Amino acid sequence: MSKKITAAITAVSGYVPEDKLTNFDLEKIVDTTDEWIRSRTGIEERRILKGEGKGISEMIVPAVKQLCEKRGIDPMEIDCLIVGTVTPDMVFPATANIVCDKIGARNAWGFDVSAACSGFLYTLTVGTSLIESGRYKKVVVVGADKMSAIIDYTDRTTCIIFGDGAGAVLLEPNEEGLGIQDSLLRSDGSGCQYLRMKAGGSAYPASAETVANREHYVYQEGQAVFKFAVKGMADISAELLERNNLTGDDISWLVPHQANLRIIDATANRIGLPKEKVMINIQKYGNTTAATIPLCLWEWEKQLKKGDNIVLAAFGGGFTWGATLVKWAY
Ligand code: UT7
Repeated sequence: MSKKITAAITAVSGYVPEDKLTNFDLEKIVDTTDEWIRSRTGIEERRILKGEGKGISEMIVPAVKQLCEKRGIDPMEIDCLIVGTVTPDMVFPATANIVCDKIGARNAWGFDVSAACSGFLYTLTVGTSLIESGRYKKVVVVGADKMSAIIDYTDRTTCIIFGDGAGAVLLEPNEEGLGIQDSLLRSDGSGCQYLRMKAGGSAYPASAETVANREHYVYQEGQAVFKFAVKGMADISAELLERNNLTGDDISWLVPHQANLRIIDATANRIGLPKEKVMINIQKYGNTTAATIPLCLWEWEKQLKKGDNIVLAAFGGGFTWGATLVKWAY
């Protein structure tokens, strides 16, 4: 009997733009303070992708090239490339298609997934199913967002949180049982009232009025989202451990979506993980939406060991949320 195929992460890469927007820069733009931002969110600075006509593909292309170089593969070997994002280069075509063209991945098909801050977990789960089906050998899963494109820099409640970045992983078949073990994903569209970008889609196409009403920016009721996020991310992480008969002691790392340090702490406490086992880089990058989790894996890659149990957890617009259990493969 042939062994069950699992989907293993075999390489990780990332890209963050060089330009930094610090809390002190924001003090000059809106009525806020470094102290308020650090104590309420944990953020000190974020990266911003500057330049006319530059969308997320500008960040994904170097990240995927780096991924191929690290693994020693040619882009022509990629079977499928999936991008989790809410800030695609354009409404269509999919950014995945644009990226495949720019890197010369001519044998690949691809598509974008819109799941906001859970975008990486959603794409990872889809990519895992493609590998487990046995039909695909190399699937690139990307989480990328250029939040600076949809942030209102006169709104102090949102502009202090978000930043730009991209992260990517390569998924390949594994016969040792390593890789993605389990995934729990949820969504609740009623959350749209608390977190959305209203205009620019088919319901409210761009018009002089939508621009004047500032409806092409992120609208967030922070406190309401905070309450759902704390409960959603903590509950689903605990549920994932429970259904895999694991406790915090069995987990080497928690990789939480980086939205707010207080949400991260609540999740870590709930599953009984000390701070040393939690990946946190929110102070450097802020909330890069779909990119936070792969950017953490990229930064901590050297510290990860084969066989480590890792929990990835996210909560975001949609509402969407989820948790994924990974057994590190290298
Ligand atoms: O990643 C996608 C999902 N998103 C999230 O998970 C974000 C969840 N929400 C949050 O992280 C937090 O709600 C925020 C960071 C957005 C806001 O923090 P908060 O502790 O919930 O603040 P608040 O909205 O309750 O506001 C408290 C006070 C208010 O003043 P008053 O009414 O008490 O006088 C705000 O006007 O802080 C004020 N405030 C600010 N003050 C200085 C709001 N933003 C700022 C600011 N600087 N930037």
